[in-house]
Amino acid sequence: MKLENNLKVTVIGAGYVGLTTALTLAYFGNRVSCVDKNGSIIDKLKGGRPPFYEPGLDELLQAVGAGVNFTAQLSQADSADVYIIAVGTPSREDGNADLSYVEEAASQIGALLPEGSIPVVVTKSTVPVGTAQHLETVINKALGERAPRCHFLVASNPEFLREGAALQDSFYPDRIVIGAGDERAFDILKRLYAPILEQSFVPPEGLPRPQGYSRPALVAVSAPSAELIKYASNAFLAVKISFINEFAGLAEKVGADIKDVAEGIGLDKRIGPHFLAAGAGWGGSCLPKDTRAVIFAGSQHGCRMPMVEAAVEVNSRQRLRIVEKLQEVLETLRGCTIGILGLSFKPDTDDLRDSPALEIIDRLLERGAAVRAYDPVAADNCRRSYPGLQVHYASSPLDLAGGCDALVLVTDWKQFASLPWEQLGSRMRQKVMVDGRNMLRRDDMERLGFTYIGMGR
Ligand SMILES: NC(=O)c1ccc[n+]([C@@H]2O[C@H](COP(=O)([O-])OP(=O)(O)OC[C@H]3O[C@@H](n4cnc5c(N)ncnc54)[C@H](O)[C@@H]3O)[C@@H](O)[C@H]2O)c1
Repeated sequence: MKLENNLKVTVIGAGYVGLTTALTLAYFGNRVSCVDKNGSIIDKLKGGRPPFYEPGLDELLQAVGAGVNFTAQLSQADSADVYIIAVGTPSREDGNADLSYVEEAASQIGALLPEGSIPVVVTKSTVPVGTAQHLETVINKALGERAPRCHFLVASNPEFLREGAALQDSFYPDRIVIGAGDERAFDILKRLYAPILEQSFVPPEGLPRPQGYSRPALVAVSAPSAELIKYASNAFLAVKISFINEFAGLAEKVGADIKDVAEGIGLDKRIGPHFLAAGAGWGGSCLPKDTRAVIFAGSQHGCRMPMVEAAVEVNSRQRLRIVEKLQEVLETLRGCTIGILGLSFKPDTDDLRDSPALEIIDRLLERGAAVRAYDPVAADNCRRSYPGLQVHYASSPLDLAGGCDALVLVTDWKQFASLPWEQLGSRMRQKVMVDGRNMLRRDDMERLGFTYIGMGR
């Protein structure tokens, strides 16, 4: 490992974003503390075990683990040059982001801020516009009588990593966005990110620099612009997927294949090929809550966001389409057994937050179907997080297929593209395949006697 940096950094939150950030910054030689108030997460990390599934995380944890001080108490973290807040910002009932965890973290920082230094308090969590400024007030309040003697700067530094490729995105991002109102905050964050901005580090084992990748762009803007860049990015991605899903519905009616259509339009450089895969729609820990927060922010400022609203509507319809398709082919779902291939909201993660699979399972159960499910990684998390879910967890795809009237491919785990379909089919009661991610070839499946139903094909 090549030591490049020597800042003192405290990351608050050891979830997908916080832990990835802490390990990446430790790899560059910074002195990193990573704080999570969930003691069991810290116990796992201290024992060298990642608290969630993410490709490459285990290896990086082994490589730098001892270089990070994991603790459940901010008071046990070293005083820092940079505090990075990476706690959750879930949806509130009204759609706005719940800032209570961010405020709690800021308040804890304020209570401990040392005199004499000028640390930067950075928000990496996805937060509404104005939060950086609001946190200044929260920290000053926590400082109390010490306020005139303690100085700090605030900055926004939204995160764009994708679960399933979190480390890749952390070491080799498209851009780094820094929003601040003070040059000193930019300077320290540019120094913090210098190894990434200059790509001067020796890549960690198993995480080679992608071919053709040079350097990320640095976007230095005001804090409100940085905060809005994050929401606008996620809203755009949501709109893009919902756009192709809307056209998938039309493609089915007019006899077109949405995969061909997506390829045809994606070749236009102004549109691009990414995020144009029709299917069961988006889910996860970000797009659903962030689109809701955008709509809420619009409503607060008398500014309706009809495109984002439509993206949300199309997305929820898309999940139902899968159930409707099953109903059309099986006529009734009551008494049928449906096998779900994939539970996580996307491949290479065990994150189930707002996963389309969970909603599809609920709808199937409501309609009287029995549900079996298989996921290569997320089944344990599902058992733990949803103990009451009436699902039989299969040990393998072959086990899943036993007695099923239909299989539904919900998550596009790579291995699902090449399952032994003939063997799976031989175990099924009826050979119906709903391909919710358009992963399989209709010809191949029909040749094996399956009734194949794709999305928009
Ligand atoms: N997960 C992603 O793919 C992703 C990508 C980009 C941005 N984000 C944003 O980053 C933020 C974090 O997301 P995440 O998925 O990592 O969340 P997460 O739920 O995986 O992790 C958050 C962690 O913060 C801890 N925590 C909460 N309050 C705390 C406190 N006061 N002190 C110490 N620990 C505290 C929790 O125990 C939890 O472990 C969110 O705002 C999210 O929108 C997430």
